[in-house]
Amino acid sequence: QLTSLWFCFSKAHVCLILSLLSKSMSKPCVLFPQVLNRRCVEAAVMTGLALNCTINKKSLFDRKHYFYADLPAGYQITQQRVPIAVNGSLSYSLCVDNKMSQMVTKTVRIKQIQLEQDSGKSLHDDARSQTLVDLNRAGVGLMEVVMEPDMCCGEEAAAAVRELQLILQTLGSSQAIMAEGQLRVDANISVHHPGEPYGVRTEVKNINSMRFLAKAVDYEIQRQIKELENGGTVLNETRAFDSKLGCTVPMRDKEGKQDYRFMPEPNLPPLILYDAKSLPANVNHQQVVNIDWIHERLPDLPSVKRAKLVELYGILPEHSFTLVNEDGLTEFFEDVVKQTQMKPKKVIGWILSDLLSHLKQHSLTAKESPISSFLLADLLNLLENGDISSSAAKQVFEELWKGEGKTPLEIVKEKQLELIKDQEELEQICQAVIDEREKEVMAIKEGNEKVINKLIGLVRKATRGRANPLLVKQILEKKLSE
Ligand SMILES: *[C@@H]1O[C@H](CO)[C@@H](O)[C@H](O)[C@H]1NC(C)=O
Ligand SMILES: *[C@@H]1O[C@H](CO)[C@@H](O)[C@H](O)[C@H]1NC(C)=O
Ligand SMILES: *[C@@H]1O[C@H](CO)[C@@H](O)[C@H](O)[C@H]1NC(C)=O
Ligand SMILES: *[C@@H]1O[C@H](CO)[C@@H](O)[C@H](O)[C@H]1NC(C)=O
Repeated sequence: QLTSLWFCFSKAHVCLILSLLSKSMSKPCVLFPQVLNRRCVEAAVMTGLALNCTINKKSLFDRKHYFYADLPAGYQITQQRVPIAVNGSLSYSLCVDNKMSQMVTKTVRIKQIQLEQDSGKSLHDDARSQTLVDLNRAGVGLMEVVMEPDMCCGEEAAAAVRELQLILQTLGSSQAIMAEGQLRVDANISVHHPGEPYGVRTEVKNINSMRFLAKAVDYEIQRQIKELENGGTVLNETRAFDSKLGCTVPMRDKEGKQDYRFMPEPNLPPLILYDAKSLPANVNHQQVVNIDWIHERLPDLPSVKRAKLVELYGILPEHSFTLVNEDGLTEFFEDVVKQTQMKPKKVIGWILSDLLSHLKQHSLTAKESPISSFLLADLLNLLENGDISSSAAKQVFEELWKGEGKTPLEIVKEKQLELIKDQEELEQICQAVIDEREKEVMAIKEGNEKVINKLIGLVRKATRGRANPLLVKQILEKKLSE
């Protein structure tokens, strides 16, 4: 019986090249392998610092030889022996149940961050039994983040990669859009009995979505357990996730025992980085990378942003988590808060339950919301001023969502949703209800106080929901105690 699971997901591939090419057009040749790209190095140092790594002041480049169609040069430049950063950690949170109610924070160790060249991509066309090779990215710079085997289910892997993605985007190391291949994940997965060594791992390659990552890992864990319980063995193999079938399948690949014949890359000398202490005098700052200088300029990481939101607005930690994790939602929330008198603690409810659920239903991000922060703030102000009830506000929200260009006030007028603010008018309506309902009035006077809710309901009905229930209750209580 297999009770404890283990898997090592590592290699989150981060493609750096798209932003690099456009930024460096006017500069001398910046591509691997002739010249090391400065921005690649800075991005790796920044990422290493953000992930609590030790930055190696001296790192090395090696050639890894293998022959395969996706590698025209016959070798790949990589940091096999001494990578640029090692021994880091990444904290990430996930909810224990699906309701966002309880979050746990976990940590995965970062083994290393290395710079290397990307290879090409093989596309197997089974229908025509041919293989196509996409060499667009062969040879361009790539950063690899290798994690330790500290995770035990797909959900954890997806949560850790999401946090890493947010960090990369915050740093500007990469846009890290998985669907565009800027961030890819390989996952090593194995199972073992408690107290025994790790089992044989399989490696699921080139996973390109957070959802697929969670599914691939969970599928693979179940597959391996079943295989072993049926007396079979897990093969040391490379697999791919078939998103249509929802399962992993063996991959035709350069598998098998390889002799990579590692050797130092002759065109790239060791990469030397400096800090404030080791920086030589009179140095040309364009030609060195200063770790301390980068450290001082690190932006606020997502975890710090969340803590600041909690502190500044008094919202719950799990709410700050959702705000930061959903694209553009923090900015939207803060824009609304700036434009309304409503307390942030109340605004967050509208953002998370009303706006976000609508956005999710329509697969939109906050930036694509048909209701602007300005319109939502306008609506919340009407509610806060007591001009409309909260159920009317929900109705106006639905109308605004249609995006017909009407303002909240116009919708309120059109649908006659304003609350009756005229005290005298309300008192008359309340009196009329009291006069009509002798039986209920008797009951209340005899001490059955709950019956007042029935009277409130009748007033609401008489005003078609346009009476403020609190105010109505006050008036009724006063009249009944006279
Ligand atoms: C998986 O394990 C193999 C060795 O067992 C290693 O070469 C490879 O880098 C690992 N990949 C990941 C994603 O950890
Ligand atoms: C990283 O951790 C390993 C294992 O704990 C240790 O042997 C190594 O010296 C550490 N490297 C650095 C640069 O701290
Ligand atoms: C780095 O370590 C600190 C202290 O242990 C931790 O609070 C922080 O979350 C870590 N950074 C990341 C990105 O996990
Ligand atoms: C599996 O194969 C890889 C090379 O493909 C090798 O590095 C690793 O040691 C093997 N692992 C096991 C458990 O056999």
